[in-house]
Amino acid sequence: MVDNRETIEKIKRLKSERDAVILAHYYTRPEIQELADYIGDSLALAQIASTLREPVIVLCGVNFMAETAKILCPDKTVLLPDLEAGCSLADSCPADEFEAFVKAHPGHTVISYVNTSARVKALSDLLVTSGNARKIVDSLPADEKIIFGPDRNLGNYINSVTGRDMVLWNGACHVHEKFSVEKLVELKKQHPEAKVLAHPECKKALLLLADSVGSTAALLKAATEAPAGSEFIVVTESGILHEMRRLCPDKTFIPAPPDDSTCACNDCAFMKLNTLDKLAACLENMAPAVEVDPETALCARKPIERMLALS
Ligand code: 13P
Ligand code: SF4
Repeated sequence: MVDNRETIEKIKRLKSERDAVILAHYYTRPEIQELADYIGDSLALAQIASTLREPVIVLCGVNFMAETAKILCPDKTVLLPDLEAGCSLADSCPADEFEAFVKAHPGHTVISYVNTSARVKALSDLLVTSGNARKIVDSLPADEKIIFGPDRNLGNYINSVTGRDMVLWNGACHVHEKFSVEKLVELKKQHPEAKVLAHPECKKALLLLADSVGSTAALLKAATEAPAGSEFIVVTESGILHEMRRLCPDKTFIPAPPDDSTCACNDCAFMKLNTLDKLAACLENMAPAVEVDPETALCARKPIERMLALS
């Protein structure tokens, strides 16, 4: 067992000296979640960032989350412990190609998932997260023509629950696409009482086997509200299990496995780049800081603010 006490003390000292606040996503390592001032899903992290007093935000998550915080708080320093913490879903939607796709569909409202680059956000009329996508799409007139990007799985799911026919960009998250239907069916046989909690970035065949589909915060809520002693199979990145087990010590959480390995659970390597050492180093060096081109940030801010107002 690694002794992190010195690093943790250093982070606490630097955080106070820099007047910084630490935000962490549920997929980060347990030791990061335990140190954070706030943990949340991507919607909560954006909402919290927009209300903070502190001049320095350390975003323990991935690049698009830090960019969203920077767009909302242009005067603050937003640190990301490792700039390599990208997102395969955001990468599946290059801005130039998305711009051509938007131009090929005139008269459509452009809704983008928050898992996108700042340039794609700037091309969008509205942003959503998995926590508010259904509510926001439902708030638009029934005959409104919509482009939805970049996640085809979330887009298909929202089409199915809202009865819409949004035009979808063909992107996906490599982590959620890796879950195996066969292994989930097998796990359900082994645990017939377990409820299946799944993130909407998963493929349709998996979502059809789920009892609850939602953002990381929504899955957490479903788990906390279930009766004592309940059992769950969790079909999303394994980092969420830490908070589930912390909030519900009397319940059992079983990670759903990916299809391509013998591992029992499925990790996002980008999220796991956030380590205690890198967190300490970024507070010490006040770098790496996330920057967004001011013109792009100005255009990207409008659809983010529209989303926050509708959430
Ligand atoms: P949430 O919005 O549910 O936190 O999900 C973010 C994400 O990156 C899922 O892969
Ligand atoms: Fe991106 Fe997928 Fe990682 Fe979420 S889990 S940050 S969508 S790569």
